[in-house]
Amino acid sequence: MLRGVSDDVTQALGAEQQRFEAALKEVGDADALYELQVQYIGKKGSVSKLRGQMGKLAPEERKAFGMAFNEVKKAIEAALEERKEAILGAAREADLGRVEDLTMVDTLSAVGSIHPITRTRRELSRVFRKLGFDVVDGPHVEHELYNFDKLNIPADHPARDMQDTFFVDGQSTKNDSNLVLRTHTSPVQIRTMLGREPPIRIVAMGTVFRKDDDATHSPMFHQIEGLCIDKGVTMADLKATLYRFVSAFFGSDLKVRLRPSFFPFVEPGAEFDMECPFCPTNEAGEKLPSCSVCKGSCWIELGGAGMVHPKVLQACDVDPQEYTGWAFGFGIDRMATLLHGVPDLRLLFDGDVRFLEQFPC
Ligand code: DAH
Repeated sequence: MLRGVSDDVTQALGAEQQRFEAALKEVGDADALYELQVQYIGKKGSVSKLRGQMGKLAPEERKAFGMAFNEVKKAIEAALEERKEAILGAAREADLGRVEDLTMVDTLSAVGSIHPITRTRRELSRVFRKLGFDVVDGPHVEHELYNFDKLNIPADHPARDMQDTFFVDGQSTKNDSNLVLRTHTSPVQIRTMLGREPPIRIVAMGTVFRKDDDATHSPMFHQIEGLCIDKGVTMADLKATLYRFVSAFFGSDLKVRLRPSFFPFVEPGAEFDMECPFCPTNEAGEKLPSCSVCKGSCWIELGGAGMVHPKVLQACDVDPQEYTGWAFGFGIDRMATLLHGVPDLRLLFDGDVRFLEQFPC
């Protein structure tokens, strides 16, 4: 093809071009491509060097060689450019197709969960706050005077028996009486009436202690106490409040009933039951007697209640001629087992994480 030029130089040029083309096939990335470019058409590249041979050619051969040289150089440049585009394109494709694993390794330690009793207490607070009650607190170590005397529980009452009460070392600052672990939440009634003027609407929740320990009793359990003191308050208000509470807590319209009973701090006194929300029904909506919770009675015993005894009002400087009031108290643990379907009360206090983990936050 190249006529009139020195065979040696022309052949060398053709040979370099072929070498370049072979080497280009092996190039896989931009760095290697750049090296190839330097190797052939860089300042000291093998093709560039051939240009220096031009001076050795006869003048009439120079023009043809110059043209041949330029053609080869352009071909190499074009091939390099084409390969460069291909390499960059492939890199772009690979980048777009990359799938990043964004999974975050969970290095946090387990945060635990809310105990069913705490959940139940929170739910009780929510419901009673909505009904207009303040949530108040009382101490676990209580004056015997507040735990018994002012609640009209005389010294010889069985509730004071050593069997029931944990006495605490030390002397109470009230009337030289003993200190006890409170056996119920009712002393919070006393503390509240001594501490504020009626009208009073409070609930108090917390741990109480009795010296009982068997399959159905724990020496440590939980109660809620309600107290309402105002002018003209009657047992009808008590029943209406219990009805409202039970329905709000269990989320359906449930009846409550009061049965006559005795507690020294109320007169009249009652035990109150709620309609069982767990009874299975037939297709006609009639309750079946096979309920395992209420054992077919359709009622669940909740606790005690009644009109606050005038002696209790007097002991707290509330005039029984001016004010009346009612109170109630019941166990929270049973509410928790009912609400969360816990089959055995003792599970609540065992501290077994396999049980507690079932109540996530
Ligand atoms: N304090 C009682 C107990 O632990 C429960 C109780 C009954 C509380 C009647 C009351 C009430 O306020 O009026 O057994």
